[in-house]
Amino acid sequence: MRPVLLRRDFVLSAFSIMLFRIPSANFSKSTIPAIANYFGTKGRYEEVNPYLIDDILSVNKTLSKPPSPDCRAIHLTAVIRHGTRFPTAKNIRKIKRLHSLVVNEAKDSYTWLRDIKTKWVMWYTEEMDGKLVEKGRDDHRHLAVRLATSFPTLISKDNFQNNRMKFITSSKHRCVDSVEAFQEGLHRLWNIKDKSYSHEINDNLMRFFDQCKKFIEDVENNKTALQEVDFFKSSDEMKYVQERIADRLQIPLSHMTADMVEAAFFLCSYEFAIKSLNSPWCNLLDEADAQVLEYKNDLKQYWKRGYGHDINRKSSCTLFHDLFRRLDQAAYDFRFGHVTEAVTVQVGHAETLLPLLSLMGFFHDETPLTARNFHKQQGRSFRTSQIVPYAANLVFVLYDCSEGLRLQFLLNEKPMAFPSIDHPAPLYRTVRDHYGDLLKGCNFEKECELPKSSQKNTEL
Ligand SMILES: *[C@@H]1O[C@H](CO)[C@@H](O)[C@H](O)[C@H]1NC(C)=O
Ligand SMILES: *[C@@H]1O[C@H](CO)[C@@H](O)[C@H](O)[C@H]1NC(C)=O
Repeated sequence: MRPVLLRRDFVLSAFSIMLFRIPSANFSKSTIPAIANYFGTKGRYEEVNPYLIDDILSVNKTLSKPPSPDCRAIHLTAVIRHGTRFPTAKNIRKIKRLHSLVVNEAKDSYTWLRDIKTKWVMWYTEEMDGKLVEKGRDDHRHLAVRLATSFPTLISKDNFQNNRMKFITSSKHRCVDSVEAFQEGLHRLWNIKDKSYSHEINDNLMRFFDQCKKFIEDVENNKTALQEVDFFKSSDEMKYVQERIADRLQIPLSHMTADMVEAAFFLCSYEFAIKSLNSPWCNLLDEADAQVLEYKNDLKQYWKRGYGHDINRKSSCTLFHDLFRRLDQAAYDFRFGHVTEAVTVQVGHAETLLPLLSLMGFFHDETPLTARNFHKQQGRSFRTSQIVPYAANLVFVLYDCSEGLRLQFLLNEKPMAFPSIDHPAPLYRTVRDHYGDLLKGCNFEKECELPKSSQKNTEL
């Protein structure tokens, strides 16, 4: 296992790397594929915060400072996506098909193509199926250290060892492994010897989408719910991408299906995210191609997790209420004694973060994303490459300030204003007022229940 590089270990580690092995990852910028900013939910976290490429533990203190010097942080809730993971079994099968297609049919027109055909080994196997990779553990170890640096009074050794930090995760392996890596990062930072890992598994909170019947019926099992994605798959834009790739490989266009195009894109993204390689596969696509594929993925997220269908957002009501319950509790505890839960770390999925962000009104473009407005949507704010890369995180920090309580929101460690609230860290009561309707309503049971008539009669 590659050790997390804490600063005090750095000299030693750098030394031992030089002596004993060729670095497996060279983080110089030239090894970054030209299309790395378009990978959507398969993007590397470093691409949204490029200063991390040079120093993965660096923190921009001007970004995470209190609203004003008189403020004191009293609670932090972080909702974090799991780290870098392997492709799912389904995508590994697609990658396998693309690999045979290229090996068997492509001409040797370029050096990189010869490299794919003669040197690249198909190393993905189906049992890897979505599991967290070592880089994914590092994503969380390093994030833990950076958050502890940014919020030292909350993410502190004292709070950690006295159970004032709570860890909640989705039951999926990649999430459980991520939350343990996060704790491991803290153990190493504070040199804690008796390592205990404790977390609570809570799928009602972190995988609410599996429990919302209306979402499952109206979106997941609805053949037309994602029709914009299907339309876009057979759009002119997509056809050009297929043509260009078929041309580069010199294979018949009919063999370069939309699935194979997607597999090429995935392969470039996985080789990069997992191994930090600018793989020869990345030459199959240029930036213009990648923008089309990025849009295809954004369309899918928009219609399945974002504003496309109301129930996508509403399915996150439980998580929304849970967040404000914690903030209220911290505010109450602070007023009448001491805060018992200083920090909550919740680990889930892109599918957890996107509905909550949408429910709260973030990244709401005026015009819906559709198959026909790719060009008009060049400047859209709903861009998953920027919002939910691996280890994406929403951080809510409650401060006690002289004017009262204030709430700061950070997405991927950068402060972000709440929609239509014109202050970087508004008064907490302003935020509560702003979300008043949701706080009074947004009832998961009600939103997610199916109308009686459409419920299946199980007695038949
Ligand atoms: C830190 O953030 C500020 C505000 O966005 C920015 O101006 C500055 O360049 C950043 N510093 C580094 C080292 O990235
Ligand atoms: C399925 O999706 C379509 C397209 O978005 C929508 O119009 C329709 O209402 C959905 N069906 C159900 C049962 O919700």
